[in-house]
Amino acid sequence: MNSKLEHEIFQKISQVADQKQIEVFVIGGFVRDLYLNRPSKDIDIVSVGSGIEFAKNIAKSLNPIPKVTIFKNFGTAMLKYKGMEIEFVGARKESYHRDSRKPIVENGTLEDDQNRRDFTINAMALGLNKSNFGELVDPFNGIDDMEDLIIRTPLDPDITFSDDPLRIMRAIRFATQLGFDIEDETFDSIIKNRERIKIISGERIIEELNKIMMSPRPSIGFKLLEETGLLKIIFPELQKMKGVEKVNGIGHKDNFYHTLEVLDRIVPNTDNLWLRWSALLHDIAKPATKKFIAGQGWTFYAHNFIGVKMIPGIFRRLKLPLNEKMKYVQKMILLHMRPIVLSEEEITDSAIRRLLFEANNDIDDLMTLCEADITSKNEDKVKRYLSNFKLVRGKLKEIEEKDNIRNFQPPIDGELIKTTFNLQPCREVGVIKDAIKDAILDGVINNNYEEAVVFMLEEADKLGIKKTN
Ligand code: CTP
Repeated sequence: MNSKLEHEIFQKISQVADQKQIEVFVIGGFVRDLYLNRPSKDIDIVSVGSGIEFAKNIAKSLNPIPKVTIFKNFGTAMLKYKGMEIEFVGARKESYHRDSRKPIVENGTLEDDQNRRDFTINAMALGLNKSNFGELVDPFNGIDDMEDLIIRTPLDPDITFSDDPLRIMRAIRFATQLGFDIEDETFDSIIKNRERIKIISGERIIEELNKIMMSPRPSIGFKLLEETGLLKIIFPELQKMKGVEKVNGIGHKDNFYHTLEVLDRIVPNTDNLWLRWSALLHDIAKPATKKFIAGQGWTFYAHNFIGVKMIPGIFRRLKLPLNEKMKYVQKMILLHMRPIVLSEEEITDSAIRRLLFEANNDIDDLMTLCEADITSKNEDKVKRYLSNFKLVRGKLKEIEEKDNIRNFQPPIDGELIKTTFNLQPCREVGVIKDAIKDAILDGVINNNYEEAVVFMLEEADKLGIKKTN
């Protein structure tokens, strides 16, 4: 008996299965994660016979009786019980049309059901009847593949991938999440079948990409996507970053591998998916802005501005959200060079105030991104940058405490300027407003109403505008 099937639901399932005299197994991701000691909240139960009927019988045996959600089209049922989400399905045989992921489903045996699964490590089942409780049914030696850290399809990979091309992405995602290798034949078949990824919806692909992003070393996934030729199909902008051009023997760094290094480096410091996306995309416009200038070498002028402009197109195509998450990524890309430039020069209060004003509450994330961006092979250089960053961070804290710039709103707004000088909305209102903001950020005046009023009157005077009352 497998002592890891501790959750009381398994005893309940066992009792009901024996009462109703049907064979029942726990299968798939839950079994895999049990052996890998990964926590899992999703349990997949396969019964030889109707999964929906069985789910209803289980629900009746529980106290309190949980609600059973039935997905008639899929022949599955789901219930939640003590922190677990349990899905029930009858064992099935499936075959697929070439142009769709919609299977033709027939009832089958456990063996049929295991044959149709994606990888050997996902095809293992544990018996739940009393006679075989906790016994492993592992026809494809998934256990050995787990020990050898290998992703392999149970059947001929051409059949498995062509049945459901999403599995191409899943293979790469599991390799990344678990740190496994993809077995050679399976790998070659991914290359052979890669064009079939085009029948998969963007929503499904991004789900896998996001899981790659949230893995301990996302670079594994992006390198596999590149090596298999999938990257140029699903993410051509990233593919374009690969490679080094030379002029007069002078090369630049390979921006693809640099980017992946930045991404891996930010992982231990943040679980924020969008900060990780910012790391992946911070240099996305380098190929578009690359230019060799004699005397200067390789330049990437304005790659941050162009990068910001590329983001909506990329987000739309990849089905990423076009909301404040996207704006956050754009802001990170726009500002990603600022702290580095700051740390190279003498750090003035005014430059710090401006950075605080623009980055606002995302300043800490921006610093995290910039620190990850220091990837030079020259250790002294890295040390120097990182210690300069410490100074920048210290200065940011000092100025923020003193001047409270993060959520800064200038003490005088456009309305007050209009009423003071009896102006209609016009360019001059904006000029005066900006001048007040700049004066505060540059430390010419302090951030308070009294000094701002005096300054406003002086600025208006320069423009020939007089106070009306
Ligand atoms: N499965 C499959 N082909 C797919 C998706 C799923 O064969 N395209 C099978 C696998 O046996 C998998 C099981 O269905 O283990 C459950 O799928 P799912 O819940 O999507 O994935 P898990 O393997 O549980 O992993 P994760 O929860 O990390 O996605």
